[in-house]
Amino acid sequence: MSTENSERVDDATTGSASEELIYQSGLGNELETEAIPGTLTVGQNSPQRVPHGLVSELISGTTFTAPRAHNRRSYVFRIRPSVVHGRFEQIDGGNLRTPPFDAPPSPNNYCWGPFTSTVSDDDFISGMATLCGNGSPHSQSGMAVHVYAATRSMHDRVFADTDGEMLIIPQTGRIRIFTEMGKLDLRLGEVAVIPKGLKFRVDLLDDSATGLVCENFGLPLRLPELGLIGTNGLANVADFEIPVAAFEDQERPVQLVHKFAGNLWAASLEHSPLDVVGWRGSLYPFKYDLDRFVPMGPLSVDHPDPSIFTFLTSPSDPILGPNMDVMALTPRWLVAERSFRPPGYHRNCVGEFSIFLAGEFGKAMEPGSTTLTNNWTPHGPGTRTLEMARAMELSPQKVEDQKILLLESRFPMQLTQFADVMPQVSNYAAQWEGFTKRLGTQEGIQIR
Ligand SMILES: [Fe+2]
Repeated sequence: MSTENSERVDDATTGSASEELIYQSGLGNELETEAIPGTLTVGQNSPQRVPHGLVSELISGTTFTAPRAHNRRSYVFRIRPSVVHGRFEQIDGGNLRTPPFDAPPSPNNYCWGPFTSTVSDDDFISGMATLCGNGSPHSQSGMAVHVYAATRSMHDRVFADTDGEMLIIPQTGRIRIFTEMGKLDLRLGEVAVIPKGLKFRVDLLDDSATGLVCENFGLPLRLPELGLIGTNGLANVADFEIPVAAFEDQERPVQLVHKFAGNLWAASLEHSPLDVVGWRGSLYPFKYDLDRFVPMGPLSVDHPDPSIFTFLTSPSDPILGPNMDVMALTPRWLVAERSFRPPGYHRNCVGEFSIFLAGEFGKAMEPGSTTLTNNWTPHGPGTRTLEMARAMELSPQKVEDQKILLLESRFPMQLTQFADVMPQVSNYAAQWEGFTKRLGTQEGIQIR
């Protein structure tokens, strides 16, 4: 990737790259923040005259009557109402696609290498390409997985995804996400969620940036219930970070791009729409540092289901599976006795998409690699791993530096045409070759 066209964040538009952002904390709770003191009016959200000459605007991410625990809405107090924009015209979405796709879901195992683009002039939006997905925004269920590679900041472009919330997962390069509700800085090991319909811009803090985006068409991501675990552990509420209000008061041409029902639509503005001076409510973007995850696991024998690593969930059916679960496999101790410690062989009713961000994953894979295992597709340890884990001494063992994200969904994934041209790890399935049958041998049970 060329760096000639790269533009780092270093101007008055976004602030300095060295600017240390501050955050609020929590998830799902009611928060309020103001960039200019006195913006928020006590006791009401629609005063006759909003302080500082601003206007009040409601953003409701869930239906008005949704139960309190799941209701997501915020009032934003801004310089201009969002309705001030030119007419939307449909534009080319490039490799950014929305399911359903043409190809049928495949029961084969897939493994892709890290995404690198040959295009040297892409921003976060034009640099996105879709790998796979299920469901559709029309049915408000399912998800899509996109990769991105950017060499310049968005600057004069602002994006809003009205199809789904966006889980942004950086691989290389730090980015600053300037949303209507403030700024989030993101690096490898952190993930961010931008609510459906919220306007934002992505600026680069380094020469280039690559990573993945998971678009969720279903119920908004929330913390999983902890059940018998109790009140602490896994992802703790206090470890989610939410921006403080930040705004631009700028008159300059800006292209507003909406992803709406699977297509991109653009409108012209003569001002920055990132002009929210203060806000209060329960709908907001947030980020999470995977290093803060508090893993739990077996203290005696066997291997837990990966659900124990869930830190965000978009529920669907309690029996058939989630619309999308997000799980974090991070550094942890393995102490199970007389047990096969790696994930064993399995066939699950839900499918899984894995993102290998950091750590050791075996010979064929490097950081940024991804795998897709659709529903019921068998998988498990490679033959070498099987032999090694059968023979290893079971002393306490630390999994160091590992960062793997696992996305599970009850709906089978379809691949895009782009997935076919994305470089695959060609010998991925070879890891399961060479299995040694033991039944009837000295080690196995003798059949009479
Ligand atoms: Fe699996």
